[in-house]
Amino acid sequence: MINSLIHPKQGDKANSPWFDEFLVKLLENRDRTGLTEMIREIDALMLTVEPGCSAAYVSELALMTPYHYLVTLESESHWTHVLRIDMNSPDLLVREVRAPGRADIFRSLNEVYPIGAHKPNSRYMGEIFRVSNLHEVVEQQKAREIRFFNQDQIRKLELPGNMAIVKPSPYTHNIVAYWERPPEDIRVYALGNSIILDEVNRGYLQAKEIQEELGLDKLIRPIDHLATRVYSQNREVAILEYLTLSSYYYWGSYDIANQNSSTNVTKSIHYPEERISPAKVFTAANHPYFVNHLVGLPSPTESFVRNYGPRLHHVALEVADGEINGLANIDYVVQAIRARGKDFLLDVIGSREEGLKQIFSSASEHSSLIVEYVQRFGNFDGFFTKQNVAELTHAAGVEENLRLLQAESEAASPVSA
Ligand SMILES: [Fe+2]
Repeated sequence: MINSLIHPKQGDKANSPWFDEFLVKLLENRDRTGLTEMIREIDALMLTVEPGCSAAYVSELALMTPYHYLVTLESESHWTHVLRIDMNSPDLLVREVRAPGRADIFRSLNEVYPIGAHKPNSRYMGEIFRVSNLHEVVEQQKAREIRFFNQDQIRKLELPGNMAIVKPSPYTHNIVAYWERPPEDIRVYALGNSIILDEVNRGYLQAKEIQEELGLDKLIRPIDHLATRVYSQNREVAILEYLTLSSYYYWGSYDIANQNSSTNVTKSIHYPEERISPAKVFTAANHPYFVNHLVGLPSPTESFVRNYGPRLHHVALEVADGEINGLANIDYVVQAIRARGKDFLLDVIGSREEGLKQIFSSASEHSSLIVEYVQRFGNFDGFFTKQNVAELTHAAGVEENLRLLQAESEAASPVSA
């Protein structure tokens, strides 16, 4: 039997006795009931973008990531573009909402947050897990009070019909879905008609040509981790809920004290290589916003959640270890992408001596998501360094304050005009 408690805990962030007690109970139960065994890798990630944005976003992803445009699933109110690297890494499903006024639960999750409301259709939705026995996983999860969309709701949401989809988490606002697929079978999404959209394909091919010319296709690797931000008080429950929904284990938590934040990491118990099933990271402030005036520290993580709602903050991609003309690969990648007009929030941080270098792009104007690049040197096996995380968190907070001001001024202008 798999033991989800086998890995020693990393990090310096203390958890509550409640967390420690239920971490053990939940994982022991999950292992014993066979759920850990049945839930396998993350097979796909889903996100939505605004009407008219997906062609530009697919092109952006084609330049900045190893993803290829495969096909578009056309349904009544959506185009869902399937992006793939290969069958060893998760697909990316980019959904464009075609009708500007269309309302659904994902839009509603954006609408009560000042920056989130500004792009109401742009949000990361969640992960699809491959499972070995869909019926059994769903029955067991229902018995644990996990709530699923019913078939009619899935049809109305225009999500693939061949999966069971858990309703958005109250803590992360993300969904998790399960589908059964023998490992040797290719991924096929039961949704709408499969077409190739010329506009999307053209932008994709142009971006890939540039990516190849620059040699970036050999340097940018699959997704390393997905980082979700949650409210301060939801840190522990968000982690434990994710462990309930997945076959991930708790890797550990690091306190980023000077940014009033912590980084909490979970990883697949089955696949140590992140490219097969990315690590899932939760970031939360150490203190809720209303005591900031007493604590006297910056609070970029809590601010983000108040501005956008709990949601995915960034997708991190690995950069191959090595160098080009004396430049670390990550420096080369950033230089090349900057020259194509894409902004980054700061300079590359970290060093070979510290084991890794990292950087955040500006949030995509199409999806609001940030791309992180991370290069690990030699046999560095740490996940990150605290100093890097502090600098990245700070930089993201600075940009976001600007966005808030911009969103507020744009929202205010019709009234003052
Ligand atoms: Fe990260």
